[in-house]
Amino acid sequence: MPLNELKLNGTIYDETFDLIFPAAYRLHSNRHFTSVYIAQRAVQFLSEHGANTVLDIGSATGKFCLVGAVTKPAIHFTGVEYRADQVAIANACVQQFELTNVRFECANILTTSFAAFDGFYMFNPFLENKDASANMDGEKLNTDAAANHFVAHVMHELEQRPIGTPLVTYWTPIEQIPSSYELQQSNFGDTLKFWLKSC
Ligand SMILES: C[S@@+](CC[C@H](N)C(=O)[O-])C[C@H]1O[C@@H](n2cnc3c(N)ncnc32)[C@H](O)[C@@H]1O
Repeated sequence: MPLNELKLNGTIYDETFDLIFPAAYRLHSNRHFTSVYIAQRAVQFLSEHGANTVLDIGSATGKFCLVGAVTKPAIHFTGVEYRADQVAIANACVQQFELTNVRFECANILTTSFAAFDGFYMFNPFLENKDASANMDGEKLNTDAAANHFVAHVMHELEQRPIGTPLVTYWTPIEQIPSSYELQQSNFGDTLKFWLKSC
């Protein structure tokens, strides 16, 4: 059982972890889901900076939140994702592994207020709307204009958070990060970035 193995050993190969997802979704893991190691690095930073309630903006089948929930049981994770099939898979994992510190919601991030959260994670969620070659499942996606609207909402919500709020981004353009967030560290060829709200 991959989540039990992760709990016991503190680490696991991605190929083994991904067995919790149906085969058709595992195919997306390399490109679209956060690896176990990156998720653990991100969660470590969020934890060190006092996050208790973490929001994953665009959670897909839930890999980031599921790894986070097992790695840091004291933190509560919420994933918001607008693909209903992927949310159903994530919720099935929550039930199967009886996790109590993670939940997934099927919603457009546009309807999510960030006020209930004190730490944030974002793996370039709007790429598919801007680059059709990144499309996961052939679903008709939103327009570039809609994606810009999502970005504006996320930036506005992040702006409202108090000084000291931690944010981790992966493969996310820095133009999508409010200037009030100060870069603390950048790793993995500048793809993984750690931010704190500074003003
Ligand atoms: C690159 S995947 C990241 C998955 C997950 N955060 C992880 O790290 O494993 C980005 C996800 O964001 C979702 N997404 C894109 N725009 C969204 C929106 N406006 N509201 C909710 N989810 C969205 C996509 O459907 C996709 O599943």
